[in-house]
Amino acid sequence: MAGENIDTSEVLVTREQIEEMLTRLSAQINRDYEGRQLIVCGILTGAFIFTSDLVKRLTMPVIIDFMQVSSYVGEISSGNLKIKKDMSYDIEGKDVLIVEDIIDTGRTLELLKQQLLKRNPASLKICTAFDKPARRENDLKPDYNGIVVPDEFIVGYGLDLDGKYRNFDDIRIVRKG
Ligand code: IMP
Ligand code: MG
Repeated sequence: MAGENIDTSEVLVTREQIEEMLTRLSAQINRDYEGRQLIVCGILTGAFIFTSDLVKRLTMPVIIDFMQVSSYVGEISSGNLKIKKDMSYDIEGKDVLIVEDIIDTGRTLELLKQQLLKRNPASLKICTAFDKPARRENDLKPDYNGIVVPDEFIVGYGLDLDGKYRNFDDIRIVRKG
């Protein structure tokens, strides 16, 4: 709303905590996929910074791809997936790691997972930078989980509010007033 006051001064996750998270997750992924080739699929737009930071720390041969998707509740079904941009690579028989910024209700990733499994990858796992389990509507659990956050709307490190604040290098809580 025009004139609405947005306060983003409260830091929830510092740059140092994000660095620790990247070190921890990349160590797990490097161990689990040692000697294999991995297709990393970043989910646009939110995961672009996390995907970039994460792949720089991976040691196996990595193919990097992106998808842009959104979920919406249709008139008949409880959830549909809209694919705005699909992957460029064929994932049949390949090890695939989806990289997401945050899992909230879990709707988007649940639907995406179902779609990608139809393409018969050798394996399909999920890595998220942030997890907001309080709002989950299904039993989706990330295989690699960065930082669990409380039920607050957060921005920064790729996460936006109406397209803004993705450039913050830490995570801030949005307060409207
Ligand atoms: P869901 O898990 O299907 O509910 O949707 C997750 C998507 O909603 C994420 O990929 C984000 O784009 C967006 N989202 C959820 N929570 C937040 C938040 O706190 N800040 C910014 N974007 C969020
Ligand atoms: Mg997103």
